[in-house]
Amino acid sequence: MENTINWSELSFGYMKTDYNIRCYYRNGKWGELEISSAETINVHISSTCLHYGQEAFEGLKAFRGKDGRIRIFRLGDNARRLQESSRGIMMAEMPTDKFEEAVLTAVRLNERFVPPYGSGASLYIRPLLLGLGALIGVKPADEYVFIVFVSPVGPYFKTGFKPAPVCIMRNYDRAAPLGTGNIKVGGNYAASLVAGSKAQAGGYAAVLYLDPKEKRFLDECGPANFFAIRENTYITPASNSILPSITNKSLIQLAEDMGLTVERRPIPVAELESFEEAAECGTAAVITPISRIDDLDENRSYVYSKDGNPGVTCEKLYRTLSAVQTGDLADNYGWVTVL
Ligand code: PLP
Ligand code: COI
Repeated sequence: MENTINWSELSFGYMKTDYNIRCYYRNGKWGELEISSAETINVHISSTCLHYGQEAFEGLKAFRGKDGRIRIFRLGDNARRLQESSRGIMMAEMPTDKFEEAVLTAVRLNERFVPPYGSGASLYIRPLLLGLGALIGVKPADEYVFIVFVSPVGPYFKTGFKPAPVCIMRNYDRAAPLGTGNIKVGGNYAASLVAGSKAQAGGYAAVLYLDPKEKRFLDECGPANFFAIRENTYITPASNSILPSITNKSLIQLAEDMGLTVERRPIPVAELESFEEAAECGTAAVITPISRIDDLDENRSYVYSKDGNPGVTCEKLYRTLSAVQTGDLADNYGWVTVL
């Protein structure tokens, strides 16, 4: 079938593709991978995923290289993070090899949806795990379904690799201090919807959350981690209530390789005024530079881009990360699975 997709105009959204993968956990074991072309699932009305949020998901991307080959970024790391999320809300764990096989099969069967090299778009891969079955008490399900679907996507934030403003609002949290902020479960995202839409209505790309206990330190930026650059140093928050971003982990390595010092530590809000550059990072966000942070409670603004352009270090990190993902630069750390 011919594609008539305008790759360079894609935004971050759902597009129907040819196939998705499903795998059921029943009677204490995982079944075989099933290939489906349906976009819906049949779940019991009393499933724990529907009532109690017993659900986790992942997000990773496949890229087309100059050589036409397809490369998937940090597949194993996403498999392991889904296992951590599963332990956090008592779900059956999908083994790494089965997770990888499901993702590889989903990408292979939807190869015609992997955007061409140079289009700025990629294939977003969304694995998810749901608690199923006829339960009404608050306890873990006995049955689960693991699903992998894909969708070609463009930039998550409308501006793409152009600086965008974010805001601080102290009257919202996405996660509790000892809650589920460090795992990728649906409830965190439901909890972020009100603050997220307020921010968007105010013209901001995202909310920069503070630590939920004391509101003294920077946490993360809606669906992405936060980092800043100052005096040749890459500075990113250490916190129990943020998601350990695989993109951030990759950038930390690339920053070190470029000769930057890396600091991963609690970052007091007061430090915002000393940064030269600031950005969000994540699979969907890639690197989205931050033009300005408006602290809406304190009535203060911190400006990082006056001319509308990304800072030099953000730009260098962005180019290096993208080049590793598409195969233009050597994969020195075994991050890339070539299909
Ligand atoms: N933080 C949150 C809350 C996210 O949803 C994401 C996206 O996955 C990230 C950070 C970035 O993580 P990663 O780089 O692994 O995509
Ligand atoms: C990702 O970056 O993969 C995410 O999961 C962010 C998102 C919730 C769209």
